[in-house]
Amino acid sequence: MYFCCTMMSLNNSEILKEVKNILEKSKVDILSGLKKCCSFLKENISHFDWVGFYFADFQNKNLNLKAFSGMPTDHTSIPFGEGICGQVALSNKNFMVPNVKEQDNYIACSINVKSELVVPLFIEGKNVGQIDIDSNKLDPFSKEDELLLEACCDLVSKTYGNSLLRL
Ligand code: SME
Repeated sequence: MYFCCTMMSLNNSEILKEVKNILEKSKVDILSGLKKCCSFLKENISHFDWVGFYFADFQNKNLNLKAFSGMPTDHTSIPFGEGICGQVALSNKNFMVPNVKEQDNYIACSINVKSELVVPLFIEGKNVGQIDIDSNKLDPFSKEDELLLEACCDLVSKTYGNSLLRL
């Protein structure tokens, strides 16, 4: 007897709808909402192997990891300017890295990671954090992924606002 199980993948608008639901349901526990959002993205996008949110500590010029899904990392605190994440804290721009081996200013979290995409998160135009995606595939990211992550960051910003600065 055969059991057939077809995994239907969600399109980006379905993913965003669910992210919005997840965030709104967790307004009293923002960290839990962010963590659920990371897990949902990792489970539903096959080339997302690690998903995390870092937020800026402007006094100490550091990014602090507040929520993630995937293997635990030693890099829970990253100085501005260091690695892909630290560069995005200063540039305010998306940073897509198709092959991490080609980057000099890169902080390795795992030998399995081959590529990375970091998208800044803005509150009223100020870069206060970012979503960081690691992939174990080479060159897997597209413009669609960037747009999806920009929209996710926008939802996080609009749902939680300035509370994100006090996590
Ligand atoms: N690779 C990142 C460090 C964070 S880990 O990917 C979780 C960087 O170069 O900033």
